[in-house]
Amino acid sequence: MEDLRQKYIDRIAQAGDEDSLESLRVEALGKKGEISLKMRELGKMSPEERKTAGPALNALKDEINSALAAKKEALGDAALEARLQEEWLDVTLPGRSRRAGSIHPISQVTEEVTAIFADMGFAVAEGPQIDTDWYNFDALNIPGHHPARAEMDTFYMHRDEGDNRPPHVLRTHTSPVQIRHMEKHGAPCRIIAPGRVYRADYDQTHTPMFHQVEGLAIDREISMANLKWVLEEFFAAFFEVKGIKTRFRASHFPFTEPSAEVDIQCSWEDGQLKIGEGDGWLEVLGSGMVHPKVLEAAGVDPKAWQGFAFGMGIDRIAMLKYGIPDLRAFFDSDLRWLRHYGFSGLQVPTLHGGLSR
Ligand code: PHE
Repeated sequence: MEDLRQKYIDRIAQAGDEDSLESLRVEALGKKGEISLKMRELGKMSPEERKTAGPALNALKDEINSALAAKKEALGDAALEARLQEEWLDVTLPGRSRRAGSIHPISQVTEEVTAIFADMGFAVAEGPQIDTDWYNFDALNIPGHHPARAEMDTFYMHRDEGDNRPPHVLRTHTSPVQIRHMEKHGAPCRIIAPGRVYRADYDQTHTPMFHQVEGLAIDREISMANLKWVLEEFFAAFFEVKGIKTRFRASHFPFTEPSAEVDIQCSWEDGQLKIGEGDGWLEVLGSGMVHPKVLEAAGVDPKAWQGFAFGMGIDRIAMLKYGIPDLRAFFDSDLRWLRHYGFSGLQVPTLHGGLSR
């Protein structure tokens, strides 16, 4: 019995992992284990012998069991200790810094414009950048032979040979959103529609893709006076100059009657552009009273409803507000430019927060 005990105690002490512990347990205490077999022999013993052998075997079984349990715990602790050593982490090391991206001036200005018009009750509407020639031209009272179509330097989409339907266009302005919005929601309405537009043109102040924001307000009695007030409110808030002067010049658009181009007051001193002072003027948008034919095309009764529309160059007003001289640089994706003119992602423009900082 003592040999048996010594043998298992030694082997348990030497076991290197849980698997060998388990085979030891089976070998000693399993169904056909050495100690189990000995216990079965108790039945054949005389009552005298059994009296000593029985308790001794039970004690041996308990001892082996607790030796196994103790060793198992020790092995677990050792494994954990080894893992802790291996996975040791120096939490005092400084982190790796990453360069944060920035918000593009166009995105920033779009947010600013949206915040200002939202405050005046305008919702945001959207339309597709690839549109039919009907939405981009015909519905806006620009028929096929109209010179405005040629002036727009339109990009046309491809049509297969033999497909004689008029090709879709990359929208040349945001005005088609007027039609799409009125068709769907009718009158009255007050919306702005910011987005990308396309014209085949490229120099310091023109890129083939640029951004406009359309404005549309339709109701029973909306007039040019309302247009003027809304735009002056907008410019004062956007350029953060109180009482900024605007100039409405008579103009012509097929989709508005009467029409006006709007300039804002500015000065040029030593090559420095200042908004809201001096006696220079900068053109920033086209506008007018929505033409009855446009209302009709969009399913709105021109005898019951009227209103104004305007289309403003977002890139243009971004250049003016933030003193960015070349429009083409907006779309070069030059990281140095983006870091210089970009805005922090955490500073969302709001009216009470002073729009931008
Ligand atoms: N769509 C015109 C343009 O792109 C601007 C405009 C919009 C003019 C709405 C009048 C009314 O030049």
